Parts: sequence; C-alpha cells; structure tokens
Amino acid sequence: MRLDVVTIFPEYLDPLNVSLVGKARARGQLNVHVHDLRSWTYDRHNTVDDTPYGGGPGMVMKTDPWGEALDAVLADGYETGAHQPALVVPTPSGRPFNQELAVELSERPWLVFTPARYEGIDRRVIDEYATRMPVYEVSIGDYVLAGGEAAVLVVTEAVARLLPGVLGNAESHQDDSFAPGAMANLLEGPVYTKPPQWRERGIPDVLLSGHHGKIARWRRDEALKRTAANRPDLIERCEPKVFDKKDREMLSILGWAPDPAGEPYGRFWRRPQGVEE
Ligand code: ADE
Repeated sequence: MRLDVVTIFPEYLDPLNVSLVGKARARGQLNVHVHDLRSWTYDRHNTVDDTPYGGGPGMVMKTDPWGEALDAVLADGYETGAHQPALVVPTPSGRPFNQELAVELSERPWLVFTPARYEGIDRRVIDEYATRMPVYEVSIGDYVLAGGEAAVLVVTEAVARLLPGVLGNAESHQDDSFAPGAMANLLEGPVYTKPPQWRERGIPDVLLSGHHGKIARWRRDEALKRTAANRPDLIERCEPKVFDKKDREMLSILGWAPDPAGEPYGRFWRRPQGVEE
C-alpha cells in the first residue's frame, strides 16, 4: 500500500518510522511519502492560509498550495505505478473513524492524507478531487485537535495492522474489540500473564483450570461486564441473537432486561435505576 501525507509539519509524522508502521515500511509492505505543503508556496512567507470569506474567527487553508501539492503527489504516484488513489481528509466534521472504516481503507492500494491546520481547507479543493477519486472525510472522535496530523497517525496505525503479513500470527487481530465475528460489538475483557502472584494479587482460578469451555465462558462474561459498564450503547445495538442463554443471565445480573416493546428484535435495554424486576 502507498501512503502520501501532505502537511505543514512533516516532522509530526516522524512516528511513522517507529514500531509496527516503521517495520511495515522497512519490509516494503507500506510505501510512505511525507510532503511539506510549503514546498508549493512561492511568497516570502510561504503562506498557506488566509482569512475566511463571510468573516469569522480563524484562518482557512488556501486552494493553490493544496491544488499544486495534490497534483504533484498524484502525478508522482501514478508515474511509479500506484493506482486508484483515495483522499483521506481528517476533520472533526467527518464521519466517525471505526474498525469497519479501517478495514475498508486497508483494502485500497493508495491513500493520500490531507491533514489541515487552522479552520480547515477551502472547500473547493475537496470538491475538485472528489470528481476524480473517493474522498473519505474522517473524524477520530468528538473533540477538536489543533490539526489533523495526529489523526493521520491514528488512521495509519489502525489500517497498517490490517495489511496482509503486517501482524504475526501471535498478534492476530481476529479477537480485537470491534472485529467482526462472535465477539462482535463487545469489548475485550482483562488479560493476565506471569507471575501468578503479584503484590498479593492472584489471577482468576478459571484461567489456570485448563478447561477451554469454562475459560471461553469467563472471557465472554468479562467482555459483557466491561461493555455494559463502558459502552452500554454497544449492548443496545446488539441483535438479540448474538446473546445466548448464559449471556442473558449475565446481562440480567448486570441490571439489563429485554425490552418488551422491542419486538420483533427484543433489544436489550438497561433496567431503570432502582427498579427491581
Ligand atoms: N482535526 C481536528 N480535530 C479532528 C478530529 N477529531 N478528527 C480528525 N481530524 C481532526
């Protein structure tokens, strides 16, 4: 996969040389190019922003540096055999970035990131390239960063670990929270390793039992507990068929009850505080 990042802070992307992404680059699984947007400015101050039409606070990134930068980056990619680019525009106004979108992006051969500073990029730039390629406007969460560079690091890491051969078997992503499959929509529970005693704290006996069925059940219950506590919205979104009898018992202990009005889906709702069944 080829990745291009156009930014006014190329050094902000230095972490792409480290750890999983760095190794994927070294192995040739990821071909990363970071470009300084200011290389496509021609005034003394290397200006990339200007005041917004219509007034208001902040500055807007100008059309020309972005247009020239993207034309040059795309031409260079095509020349070296890259194909089917997609533009990834980090913005708090974008669609929420999640595992599903990470999977979709990991299936594309070439991603071009346009992290912006200030109030964002003149809309005409996005509209122009949207006529030539898919554009993904993505937000990594409901908070406002000073710029999109940190979002590029987040998206790149989530995507890179899904590329074939990047993760070893030992670190397979099949059991990830949010991975499609049996644990769909449940968060992963706690994990333990040696030593068996630490500061008078042991580990749950079941994990030493060697009983695979019991261990799987325990893990599932812990996942239900953690999800109910930290992400009740994920439980509410679950199709009832993903909950077996034991799941339902655990959810009931945790204070959840099936919604009688939820038929035909029978979705689970949190029981109102203080109301006994
Ligand atoms: N730029 C500023 N805030 C952002 C966010 N939450 N997600 C993506 N890009 C951003």
